[in-house]
Amino acid sequence: MYKSFFKLKDNPFNVNPDPRYLFLTKEIEEALSGLMYGVQNRKGFITLTGEVGTGKTTLVNQLLEWLHQRRVRTAFLFNSRMNTNQMFDFILAEFGIPCESKSKSQQLLHLNQWLLDRYRASETTVLIVDEAQNLTYPVLEEIRMLTNLETSTEKLLQIVLSGQPELEEKLKLPQLRQLRQRIMLRCKTGPLSREQTHDYIAERLRIAGASGELIFSPKAVETVHLYSLGIPRVINLLCEHSLINAYVEQERPISARIVEDVAHEFQLDEVEPTAPAGSTRIDANLYTSEAFIQNLGEALSRFRLNPSVTQPSRERK
Ligand SMILES: Nc1ncnc2c1ncn2[C@@H]1O[C@H](COP(=O)(O)OP(=O)(O)OP(=O)(O)O)[C@@H](O)[C@H]1O
Ligand SMILES: [Mg+2]
Repeated sequence: MYKSFFKLKDNPFNVNPDPRYLFLTKEIEEALSGLMYGVQNRKGFITLTGEVGTGKTTLVNQLLEWLHQRRVRTAFLFNSRMNTNQMFDFILAEFGIPCESKSKSQQLLHLNQWLLDRYRASETTVLIVDEAQNLTYPVLEEIRMLTNLETSTEKLLQIVLSGQPELEEKLKLPQLRQLRQRIMLRCKTGPLSREQTHDYIAERLRIAGASGELIFSPKAVETVHLYSLGIPRVINLLCEHSLINAYVEQERPISARIVEDVAHEFQLDEVEPTAPAGSTRIDANLYTSEAFIQNLGEALSRFRLNPSVTQPSRERK
């Protein structure tokens, strides 16, 4: 509805990962090329970690597209709340491996044979798990076993685990040290700097067909960075709703006040968009079903008001 008011052809701040809007900084490019390099060079085990909303799934989608262009066979698990049986069923289905049996040893045998065939045909095969912070200890252990599928020189299956910082904490569990030692490459996503936030907003507006007329005042952009802390998903949320509110008020360019009102509406002036430091720590004895409760607690802690971390400059006047 605001498109014609701001002379745009498209909604610039859609929260869905849309490859047309891919924004690259030195850090994002580094993470993406790390993923590509790791898979192409059969590094075996790669992790991609970063705070909520910082672009992990966006990068995984880019990686998948890049792999598909190269006809690389992929299995993409995006629902990580599964048990080991479901995981094997899913992997076989994703790779299109026919297997009547539900027995795990039979399934592994089929998978191994299929991977060997792919390897002999000089093909690379990749398993990508998104939201991997939700994987339970037994599933992570099975994933570790999958890295044992190898020839004398190379891993048969490349594995990418993508997840929030809780994944890193989970991988620090003593029980998972074997898996941790197998990680050959660690890629990261992070928040954007002030300048990057500015460029991110400008780039999205440009792709959406902005004519060059000022849409967000410099102070409004500053305010977006202040409340979003540079997290792309939050930047999108603030910008999208600022566009709507500014259209309703017929205000152009958008002022800092409009952005502040949106931030208040979404309580961003009360709760940080990132988890408080230390809240991702997982007790070494907690895993499987208890890990779920732990995850839930962490999720809730994200929404708890933490006055000590509220910066005075972000308080509402
Ligand atoms: N590099 C980028 N280029 C363009 N848009 C991006 C980029 N990174 C993130 N975004 C935007 O931010 C939104 C959130 O990113 P994404 O879903 O990839 O984050 P995430 O790290 O996977 O989050 P979560 O931890 O919640 O799974 C995306 O839908 C996209 O609109
Ligand atoms: Mg994601």
